[in-house]
Amino acid sequence: MIPVIRPWLGEEEAAAASAAVASGWIAQGPRVAEFEAAFASAFGAAEAVAVSSCTAALHLALLVAEIGPGDEVIVPSLSFIATANAVRYVGARPVFADVDLATQNLTAQTVQPLLSSRTRAVILVDQAGVPADLDEIRSLCDPCGIVIVEDAACAAGSTYRGRPVGAGAELAAFSFHPRKLITTGEGGMVTARDPSIARRLRRLREHGMDVSAAERHLSQQPVIEHYIEVGFNFRMTDIQAAIGLVQLRKIAQLVARRRALADRYRQLLSSIPGLRMIEDPGYGTTNYQSFWIMLPDDAPVGRDELLRSLAEAGVSARRGIMAAHLESAYAGHSHGPLPVTERLTAQSLILPLFHQMTEAEQDQVVSAVRTSMSQSGSISRSAATVR
Ligand SMILES: Cc1ncc(COP(=O)(O)O)c(C=O)c1O
Repeated sequence: MIPVIRPWLGEEEAAAASAAVASGWIAQGPRVAEFEAAFASAFGAAEAVAVSSCTAALHLALLVAEIGPGDEVIVPSLSFIATANAVRYVGARPVFADVDLATQNLTAQTVQPLLSSRTRAVILVDQAGVPADLDEIRSLCDPCGIVIVEDAACAAGSTYRGRPVGAGAELAAFSFHPRKLITTGEGGMVTARDPSIARRLRRLREHGMDVSAAERHLSQQPVIEHYIEVGFNFRMTDIQAAIGLVQLRKIAQLVARRRALADRYRQLLSSIPGLRMIEDPGYGTTNYQSFWIMLPDDAPVGRDELLRSLAEAGVSARRGIMAAHLESAYAGHSHGPLPVTERLTAQSLILPLFHQMTEAEQDQVVSAVRTSMSQSGSISRSAATVR
């Protein structure tokens, strides 16, 4: 079976994890600090704070932005459910906005009608790695004092107006889940522009303590720590950070390979009439974290049928991005019309794309898509032949 993704892990990551274990320090310690510094430098962030997941990163980002009960936060429904859930964790109300068909991201046009006197933040997702247009959303939000938290879970290695995604945000959250380009198993990072905000993030991830466990360990004198506010255990381990440091060094290679394979997919699939595919927006580049395609309204097969026939052909694909408002967890949560979100979530799917993927494997995926899509004879035989 061709998997939808396979992390690019090897001997180097195994050796780094093993060295962390041998060092005797496996909880949050020097390797986490090193990973944070390397991440901040690679992605143009002033400060980077490692946490246990991107979900935790989003939760903390909303807390330090002082979002709470009575506040509204505009989010895309078309996102992994953690985006909306983070708003619920802080007691605020997610307000679902529709997205753009080409980028799958929020735009000023979809956000603007939802602004109210209670709107305190927008979570701007770079969906599937496609950068969202931060400047456009900022010109809408800045005059009203609305905070933008960038959910860059999928976007490490993408660029926005010539800079790494997240570099322009006050607060941005990244994921290191194995479905993302660089992985630590589970893990996340929140980047911040303001050092005092970063200090609070560090405190909140570690039970609200004023001195970290690592600092206490290094001190020659006994240190009595104090708990300044109610925090969380959102720490990353040094074993994860050791793996992350190796993965971070591979980011350019990972992005280059994915972009080459994505170009090849686009060429090979371009003859299927009406098929939409993920692409770079005019203002940035995507890391192609997920290669999504969207079936036309009159496709000869439905999305779920296509997923089934791909599985029968040995190809593990996935449905496209979910829509939170359609899940039971959000039943009864009122929202306006979300027509583009509903089209995208019903008609799109994610094809396999991973660093080690061979052209032969990619041809097998393309051939399976074409065969299934030409079932009703709407695509000529020649178009259905993989070159
Ligand atoms: C847009 C988005 N936000 C948040 C998350 C949550 O990331 P994590 O699994 O690291 O908590 C994901 C994970 O898929 C995601 O795609």
